[in-house]
Amino acid sequence: MSVFKRTTPTEFPPMFSDRILSCLKSPGGENEDTLEIIEGTLQNIISGKTYPDKDNVPSLFLPEKGRGEVVTTRVKSFYEDNPFPSYEGLEEFSELVNKGLRNTFASELLKAIGYNKTVLECGCGTGQLSHFLQLNNNHVLGIDMSLASLKLAIEHKIRNGLTRSSFAQMNIFDLAIKDNSFDIVISHGVLHHTFDAQRAFSHLVNKVKPGGIILIGLYNYYARVPTWVRSKLVGLLGQNIDYVVRNRITDNKKADIWIKDQYYNPHETWHSIDEVLKWFNLNDVEFVNCAPAILGSSGENVKSLFEQSDPGSAYQRIVSQLSWLGTIAREGALFDVIGRKAK
Ligand SMILES: C[S@@+](CC[C@H](N)C(=O)[O-])C[C@H]1O[C@@H](n2cnc3c(N)ncnc32)[C@H](O)[C@@H]1O
Repeated sequence: MSVFKRTTPTEFPPMFSDRILSCLKSPGGENEDTLEIIEGTLQNIISGKTYPDKDNVPSLFLPEKGRGEVVTTRVKSFYEDNPFPSYEGLEEFSELVNKGLRNTFASELLKAIGYNKTVLECGCGTGQLSHFLQLNNNHVLGIDMSLASLKLAIEHKIRNGLTRSSFAQMNIFDLAIKDNSFDIVISHGVLHHTFDAQRAFSHLVNKVKPGGIILIGLYNYYARVPTWVRSKLVGLLGQNIDYVVRNRITDNKKADIWIKDQYYNPHETWHSIDEVLKWFNLNDVEFVNCAPAILGSSGENVKSLFEQSDPGSAYQRIVSQLSWLGTIAREGALFDVIGRKAK
């Protein structure tokens, strides 16, 4: 049973900060939409249509119809049963901040984002990264289709009185968000669980302000192979076959959730740097950086995740991805590519 209850329009912390509320529209709606919270419920004040919470989670979700319906339904059901990442041992915001500061990717990302920015996290899961990134006076909207995950995000928000991280249930393929409205859009470990990662990417780009940053984290085509091999053995040899379980996770429930996410996911696709560069080209996004860096490129010497670097040659990119078999492959093979939307 949920430990929180939304009550009055003046509740604290407010479900949405004003900066985030002004970026919302109706699902399938127009950029001109204005959404407000009237008596605790989201309402489009132009059309009068209301969007009641689901399970105490603000919901602007339209289920997928047509080609993506089967995958979206299966993935949604998986993350309703297995909210990710687990909150075990992270009751207090200070604990979550400590975890974020110790994590190289999260702390580098916070540093690169800077101050007073609007950040959209698509596929935020249980919202831990969204909460962390609202430090430095940033306003963050985390969206996901899993209500179970969002409930945990909102529980943490309410328990800790966090005012600048907001959450809503949405589908990446029908984002109830105005075009060109966020300084930074991130989606880490998500698009490869959708039925069409390239199409999902173009929906995300629409929400970035001209000149703003987009960051996507995907399973790598080359470095994911060892995980696939392990997925055939994990049932036989047990959870200790996994490097993260052996070296990073001390809590059993957390280990179970990690193993399910890595080895029993109903849908995943693998992607290469060159594929992402093609998506960038088609969507008027300029390459900024890649993490891990492309070997031999200026990305090896950047001081910030968002510092401009070159994408190297096709040969350097292949060698880099093969080298990841000895590095990120043991932790799930996620690589991040960062781009800047044309002005
Ligand atoms: C592996 S989890 C990643 C969570 C978080 N970003 C992280 O890195 O820990 C993938 C998340 O993507 C969400 N997701 C997948 N497809 C989606 C879609 N079409 N719309 C919204 N969320 C989606 C899932 O519900 C799930 O919470």
